Amino acid sequence: MKGAGYYSKATGGAKDVIDHGKSLVLGAIEAIGQTDNTRPFTMSDMGCADGGTSLDMVGEALCAIRARWPERPIQMVYTDLPRNDFSQLFQMVHGLTDVESYIGTVDNLYVMASATSFHQAMFAPATLDLGFSATASHYISDRPCQISDHVHMVGASGEERRAYEEQGRRDWETFLRRRSDELAADGRLVLFNFGIDEEGRYLGHTGGVSMFETFNEIWEQFRDEGHITGEEYLATNFPQCYRTVEQFTDPLTDKGSDVYASGLRLDHVETRVVRCPYERDFTENHRDADRFALEYIPTLRSWSETSFAAGLSADRAPEERQRILDAYYTACEERVRQSPEGHAMDYVHIYLVLRKD
Ligand SMILES: C[S@@+](CC[C@H](N)C(=O)[O-])C[C@H]1O[C@@H](n2cnc3c(N)ncnc32)[C@H](O)[C@@H]1O
Repeated sequence: MKGAGYYSKATGGAKDVIDHGKSLVLGAIEAIGQTDNTRPFTMSDMGCADGGTSLDMVGEALCAIRARWPERPIQMVYTDLPRNDFSQLFQMVHGLTDVESYIGTVDNLYVMASATSFHQAMFAPATLDLGFSATASHYISDRPCQISDHVHMVGASGEERRAYEEQGRRDWETFLRRRSDELAADGRLVLFNFGIDEEGRYLGHTGGVSMFETFNEIWEQFRDEGHITGEEYLATNFPQCYRTVEQFTDPLTDKGSDVYASGLRLDHVETRVVRCPYERDFTENHRDADRFALEYIPTLRSWSETSFAAGLSADRAPEERQRILDAYYTACEERVRQSPEGHAMDYVHIYLVLRKD
């Protein structure tokens, strides 16, 4: 994600997703039985970015945990990849930005962070009471191949599509196995995962202009006009897999799977679409195409720029790379400005609540 607070400033929709799903987190806290009160209660936000989108939800969750266990120390562990802007996260949590934080409202609370990938072990066995993650598990541990005619696996076909799905399956099972080992008895995982719903909808693909098609068309145009090379186009693949509901739940319902054998159980699954706030504002309020383009493209840029940057040759000077990326997002803006109808980054999530038996 782009650092220095850009991520949560530009992603109002991701905050909506978390806020709208808050009752699932609070319900999970209520459902946890009496646990070992001699050790701290540990909650985590896995793939937290700068922490801004989950700040309100985490604050409410911590208050609910405190109400249930008045004497128990609470550890709040934020996790993300090593290159994440953890400085911005701690500024956010400690109330050093213009965003109001929960800090100071819950006593006996210890906030810390881990920069270990969620594809690996992150917590000591049987110590995690409540694991939360939003909009992060679609990041796979490795790109299995180059996609010949698209930038994202949703546009891939044949063997290339299957390779991404297989990588996604392996990573999801590993994620579940590791979390299962880390969960305390009767602990919960509450996961809001990007995915493909029962109607084939996914992020930015809900009936209007398909966002990943637009990304791909403009990147192809950059190749055809010589702004990037053919190799750079091929090397640009989002390290992501969007899974279907079945792909998420299979390891949890198949009694022969390692995940099931580890004691992880599916308590709840549902899909939801959360409307793009920038498109809604454009459609229902201002109807200003220029404003829409200027507000909408940064939300796409906040999470997509690293993938386009990764496709560019390392031989290019940093200024040249930045110039190409700036020109690319300017072209995206222009596309929306010229013909704003139908553009929207609606969020499509598969919501899961899991329990450690
Ligand atoms: C789209 S952001 C979501 C941020 C926040 N959870 C939200 O819902 O707004 C995805 C985050 O997942 C992180 N991420 C990706 N792969 C990860 C991994 N293997 N381990 C931990 N975090 C990861 C990214 O660095 C990024 O901060």
